[in-house]
Amino acid sequence: MKTVLITGTSSGIGRAAVLKFNNEGWNVVATMRDPSNETELNQLDNTLVVALDVQKPETITQAIDAVINKFGQIDAVVNNAGAAIFGVFEMATEDQVNKIFDTNVFGPMRVLRAILPHFRAQRSGTIINITSQGGRITFPTCSIYHATKFSLEGLTEAIAYELIPFGIRTKIVEPGSTATKFVGGAELTAGEVPEYEEFIKIGLGNWAKYDTMTSQPEEIAETIFIAATDDNDQLRYKAGRDTELYIGKMQNGDDQSYVDYMRERFIPEYLDKKQ
Ligand SMILES: NC(=O)c1ccc[n+]([C@@H]2O[C@H](COP(=O)([O-])OP(=O)(O)OC[C@H]3O[C@@H](n4cnc5c(N)ncnc54)[C@H](OP(=O)(O)O)[C@@H]3O)[C@@H](O)[C@H]2O)c1
Repeated sequence: MKTVLITGTSSGIGRAAVLKFNNEGWNVVATMRDPSNETELNQLDNTLVVALDVQKPETITQAIDAVINKFGQIDAVVNNAGAAIFGVFEMATEDQVNKIFDTNVFGPMRVLRAILPHFRAQRSGTIINITSQGGRITFPTCSIYHATKFSLEGLTEAIAYELIPFGIRTKIVEPGSTATKFVGGAELTAGEVPEYEEFIKIGLGNWAKYDTMTSQPEEIAETIFIAATDDNDQLRYKAGRDTELYIGKMQNGDDQSYVDYMRERFIPEYLDKKQ
């Protein structure tokens, strides 16, 4: 029986992934920052609910050690935990930038640092990093979030080279807009620059207007499961109808056409205000 460890399973995509892998007969290590209120996942067979905060390295090594003691080895790790921040770069405080990078980039790096020695020793293992369509394309009002997800995309694509010699498979799953608490739980950039207020209102408003292709977390979990089990060398997996549209625009044309398309779609109000 194979074993997967998933981060950020208190809600959303991570939680749906726990249920999917469990349903498919895997041992699942459902990790979350605070398992004390968990009442559902710890009732599942072959599922271990463990505390893991990607910002606290000691919780990562403790969780991995506990899993290896119980299940013998880990076959796949899903770096799913993440957070959002909306607003504009100039209004993001240093603390906000550090915090979101700590969760979305340095967090997965800490998990990788802890699991890779085990994967190298066993000459196998699959890493699945959950980025976003926002790791390939950008929307107005999400600049800091995009910076984190582009970073995780680049890291993941590049470590895939390094890990091939050890039989370790590296995968990227790129969800589009998904119905979780993610957007509602997002921070707003907190600095005081009133001149951006109108831009943020317009950017968020247009984004909401076009946010009509939302997927359910269970659909993303299906893609994560495929990435874990398809036994091939595919690196990237788009997940969600909007990813086909936006990443498709970026991939299937010249770069400036994609940029023009996104500006026309999301900030048309500003395009006749060129200086
Ligand atoms: N929903 C979308 O539209 C969307 C689109 C593209 C990509 N994604 C990506 O999908 C992933 C999952 O997001 P989601 O949509 O399922 O949102 P979600 O329901 O808000 O889930 C995020 C999970 O990450 C956990 N988390 C946050 N900080 C953590 C930390 N320091 N250590 C451990 N866990 C932490 C949260 O736990 P707590 O309950 O403790 O906060 C929560 O379980 C994220 O990486 C996100 O960037 C989401």
